Amino acid sequence: MSQTATAPNTAIVILAAGKGTRMRSAVPKVLHEIAGRPMLGHVIAASLEAGMSRLCLVTAPDQNNVRDYALIEAPDISNCIQENQLGTGDAVRAAMSACEGVARVVIIFGDTPLMRPDILRQLAASEADVCVLGFEPEDAAAYGRVIMEADTPSRIVEYKDADAQTRAISLCNGGAMAVRAGVLKELLPQLQNDNAQGEHYLPDLVHLAVASGHSTGLVLGDTDDTLGVDSRKGLAHAEVRMQTRLRAKMLEAGVGMQDPNTVYLSYDTDIEADVTLEPHVKIGPGVQIGEGTLVKAFSHLEGVHIGARAVIGPFARLRPGTVLGNEVRIGNFVETKNARLGHGSKVNHLSYVGDAELGINVNVGAGTITCNYDGFKKHITRIGNGAFIGSNSSLIAPVTIGAGAYLGSGTAVSGDVPADSLAVTRAPRRDVEGWAQSFRRKNQEAD
Ligand code: UD1
Ligand code: MG
Repeated sequence: MSQTATAPNTAIVILAAGKGTRMRSAVPKVLHEIAGRPMLGHVIAASLEAGMSRLCLVTAPDQNNVRDYALIEAPDISNCIQENQLGTGDAVRAAMSACEGVARVVIIFGDTPLMRPDILRQLAASEADVCVLGFEPEDAAAYGRVIMEADTPSRIVEYKDADAQTRAISLCNGGAMAVRAGVLKELLPQLQNDNAQGEHYLPDLVHLAVASGHSTGLVLGDTDDTLGVDSRKGLAHAEVRMQTRLRAKMLEAGVGMQDPNTVYLSYDTDIEADVTLEPHVKIGPGVQIGEGTLVKAFSHLEGVHIGARAVIGPFARLRPGTVLGNEVRIGNFVETKNARLGHGSKVNHLSYVGDAELGINVNVGAGTITCNYDGFKKHITRIGNGAFIGSNSSLIAPVTIGAGAYLGSGTAVSGDVPADSLAVTRAPRRDVEGWAQSFRRKNQEAD
């Protein structure tokens, strides 16, 4: 793994082979996104951050897309195939070949996107032969219930197999578990499927461990750590919880938000102190914003780097590849894509700036359009330092406007405009005296 193993000799097995039928989607469950990243990506990131020495992903035979995505996030991850989805215990069996030689195996689910690295470290560090991650949600819903005896777990009962008395237990199974490798090898073959779902349940390891004289332990997580997403409703709930977590992190780091609940962030949003995000700002993946920048209401940003003390919006749309220098101004109804704007440049109203390189202190007037696409290829617009682009201009790329040049309003220009010159392509003006009067008279008479 790319990070130093702080949980040495520990493998983490991520289960993702389930059919995810409750999502009602053609997309595998673990590839559904939370805060701009697939759930599996969150789980892999937490595993790497926890410093696990080996990562293993269990997928179904037809889930090459899940495997391929995991390899992007963690190139060293090993992939094991669970031929038939016979339950979480059976899925771990499929991963045993990848766990040879480790002392401990932590098992987590690919559908728990809010899992924190700290919880994984606690599980890895537990002394117990089988250590369960428990939590006490407000609504225990259909989670498995953890039965305790003398302060240690003695059995986990799935909701579907539980009687009313067991369902009344508030301690639930968060799904993750850490097992000493030798104990896992010994107990996995003993799992039976004589239960309501006809599956080999991983949680059955708990009572099998107790029956064989092995020790059990419990790590307590909070409701977010263990939040399992099984449906669209669950996905929406996890998004809300993740956004709450991300917003709190931003506020702590000195980012101002008047109404945090309306601001949407991504897993990798990187914002410096004294940035203000007004209400209804949506920030997609790959956004960095420098100190003191103001992003006004209803702006949408994705894949952009913004310098310090810039002012963006309201109603700005900054698309991937946008790089803005310090003190740039982007106003209302402006769209940028793959565009670099130097220090102090301004595009304040109703413009499209795509595939463009603008120097410093360039002023782009209202309604300017870079005509970057000819139906086959994208072409570049270059504008030199201090150039002034008059309103309602069309920059037909490839086009280069020299430094300090002026473009008359309403100009449609291609090719090279020399530095410090004026380019105007406006048609010559013609005044026809009295025309309007006679036009009106003719039409009124005809009425
Ligand atoms: C599971 C636990 C339950 C716990 C809950 C916490 C079991 C039997 N039940 O229930 O006690 O309260 O999680 O969220 O473990 N998977 C496979 N192969 C399979 C079946 C599942 O890889 O054959 C994977 C799924 O892709 C998923 C994970 O295992 O990532 C959990 O499966 P899921 O069906 O979501 O289990 P729950 O019903 O949520
Ligand atoms: Mg689940």
